[in-house]
Amino acid sequence: MLLEVRDLQVEFRTRDGIAHAVNGVTYAVDAGETLAVLGESGSGKSVTAQAVMGILDMPPGRITGGRILFRGTDLLTLKEDERRRIRGAAMAMIFQDALSALNPVLTVGDQLGEMFTVHRGLSRKDARAKAVELMDRVRIPAAAQRVRDYPHQFSGGMRQRIMIAMALALEPALVIADEPTTALDVTVQAQVMDLLAELQHEYRMGLILITHDLGVVADVADRIAVMYAGRIVESAPVHDLYKAPAHPYTRGLLDSIPRLDMRGRELYAIKGLPPSLLRIPSGCAFHPRCPMARDVCRTDVPPLYEVNEQRGSACHFWRECLDG
Ligand SMILES: Nc1ncnc2c1ncn2[C@@H]1O[C@H](COP(=O)(O)OP(=O)(O)OP(=O)(O)O)[C@@H](O)[C@H]1O
Ligand code: SF4
Ligand SMILES: [Mg+2]
Repeated sequence: MLLEVRDLQVEFRTRDGIAHAVNGVTYAVDAGETLAVLGESGSGKSVTAQAVMGILDMPPGRITGGRILFRGTDLLTLKEDERRRIRGAAMAMIFQDALSALNPVLTVGDQLGEMFTVHRGLSRKDARAKAVELMDRVRIPAAAQRVRDYPHQFSGGMRQRIMIAMALALEPALVIADEPTTALDVTVQAQVMDLLAELQHEYRMGLILITHDLGVVADVADRIAVMYAGRIVESAPVHDLYKAPAHPYTRGLLDSIPRLDMRGRELYAIKGLPPSLLRIPSGCAFHPRCPMARDVCRTDVPPLYEVNEQRGSACHFWRECLDG
């Protein structure tokens, strides 16, 4: 397995108390596979990713438990320089906001080229040629000229392509894309997502795609992990999950996506709000919002039950949920 996160726990010290952002996340992604991580705002998607990348804000953040195995090595036991080496070459991250992730005072050619001069020891001239080649790969028109432009001279969609190029420059084994298309308009979103999926396939990298949009992942992901209040509540192959969710929260998410065959009908919305991470509800954290909740849900934390070899659900009543 390329990456295995096991029972990861992260908390933040805040003025109001300890925020329990990640409360035992377990997920895995293999080479050539795309794992979509889905969940409402604040569910711990980015914090988990930052812990994997080793870029968590510490303090105020603190990893209080769990393991992050990359090709079998627990990254949490490595020294910072070993960690940095892996982060530079074997893993890369794509963020939502390219404008703040790219350096505004360097041309994109210099930034892309730097990947090759610093990490691969290429000459400036060869690095420049590599930069142009990469810009071509992510289909930036007139790459040979545009390599001299600065980030702000590109449109949002083109900038996002440049960030993808930066992430893929050293052909990392693992890429984490955190809401990579959220800031773009819908048609550009689809183009960038298609490009990412195509390159993922070609490079056979493991891709973790973080999103709160269940609509975009159907075509590109192999598996989905659904997060709620810092936990994985359901994990399944994409098509199984779409066909029949095994957790009421996933069902709620699915019922709240606009669908063509539902046009005109009112869209479902999960009632209530995500919980405060300072005071996570007892038992199943979803119980205050769950239409299926019973007494046991208020007292007993559901483990991630094995639904079958491929799927897990953290719901005491996953069978009922699966049966609709
Ligand atoms: N630097 C920080 N300091 C304090 N608390 C933080 C920090 N970063 C994250 N948190 C806490 O962790 C929680 C989970 O954050 P995270 O960014 O992982 O959410 P997310 O699932 O990525 O949401 P979104 O969809 O909005 O990006 C936040 O709601 C916040 O309480
Ligand atoms: S364990 Fe109970 S509250 Fe939690 S999702 Fe299942 S039915 Fe709902
Ligand atoms: Mg986030």
